[in-house]
Amino acid sequence: MNTQSISDRAGELGTEKLLLRALAGERLQRPPFWLMRQAGRYLPEYRELRQQAGSFLELCYDPALATEVTLQPIRRFAMDAAILFADILLVPQAMGRTLAFREGEGPVLEPLRHREDIARLRPGAIHDTLAPVYETLRRLQAELPQAVTLIGFAGAPWTVATYMVEGGSSRDFANVKRWAFEDPDGFARLIDALIEATADYLAAQVTAGAEVVQLFDTWAGVLPERDFERWCVAPVRAIVERLRAVHPDVPVIGFPRGAGAGYAGYAAAAGVDAVGLDWTVPLAWARDVLQPQAAVQGNLDPRYLVVGGAAMEAEIERILAALAGGPFVFNLGHGIVPETPPENVARLAELVRGFAGGDDAPS
Ligand code: CP3
Repeated sequence: MNTQSISDRAGELGTEKLLLRALAGERLQRPPFWLMRQAGRYLPEYRELRQQAGSFLELCYDPALATEVTLQPIRRFAMDAAILFADILLVPQAMGRTLAFREGEGPVLEPLRHREDIARLRPGAIHDTLAPVYETLRRLQAELPQAVTLIGFAGAPWTVATYMVEGGSSRDFANVKRWAFEDPDGFARLIDALIEATADYLAAQVTAGAEVVQLFDTWAGVLPERDFERWCVAPVRAIVERLRAVHPDVPVIGFPRGAGAGYAGYAAAAGVDAVGLDWTVPLAWARDVLQPQAAVQGNLDPRYLVVGGAAMEAEIERILAALAGGPFVFNLGHGIVPETPPENVARLAELVRGFAGGDDAPS
């Protein structure tokens, strides 16, 4: 990486937003931080609003409540970024599939198993359903403090396809793998419909005020090498290209969870500015192999955030020591779990904000 020219580009941004500076390749005195699933059930104020709304989906589609829920963790912990409150499964719903979240069961979709079902999807007609999400982003853009970056997001096509084909969460991905391995040309039509819908959704999010977007590929780690390239890397690249045709400069974070050695070269191949690391990625390897190619984000095991205390603090210090010398965004290796004590999140925020060893950069 040509660190100098990327830093110059960041300098030219003329922004105090630490997340934008880190994603442009700048090394900072202390890294920006935000946490996947930073809004949610571990916060009592979230549980209260969720009850008022009636259901999780009603919360997602109500701009006033979704705005409030997005802001809750920012008020408590002053993260450097706010992530839109929504869900990756709103896209299949907007394409015409049924979706419900049942208590204690997770998402339930009508399983999509036939080519004819793909022909009935409406990737070009998603915006009517998703209009409240864009309204939430406009409200957030108006309400967020100047230094806080607004992140939009979507699921990557492979991960969303797993939920659509299996009809919900899965242990072995038997149906979606059968389809992808046995009839790749048919399965490609589903992935292509998701590429179109997802790119258009993200472009509309940026138009509505998102300053960065993240693509969640939660199940990237369950595929063999060649299928990972075909169903994870190539579709993310296609989305980034289509998005950049509308918004050439928007930074994109890719999160191919569980990709293992597949993380090497992922940023360049997928065309993203930064990669989200799950907690199994070794820190020295991330520093030496990945960080010279792109900004990295991660990767505290969220169970350390449940445990707290000296164990959590040592692990946070280890991550900062390894990665804060290059372009870095502190985050978890996957989402916050509901049993996380909020006071541990407060301690994490204090440690990252107080870190001053990143570099001699004048910030
Ligand atoms: O990060 C944030 O704070 C923003 C909001 C956000 C949610 N889901 C809210 C949510 C984001 C970015 C997501 C992404 C998402 N959704 C992913 C990718 C990241 C990951 O966690 O792997 C996936 C796979 C989903 C699909 C999904 N949504 C599942 C499997 C579940 C059920 C499991 C669970 O945690 O309850 C959800 C529900 C969900 N999405 C909740 C929240 C706050 C919990 C809903 C509730 O209040 O009961």
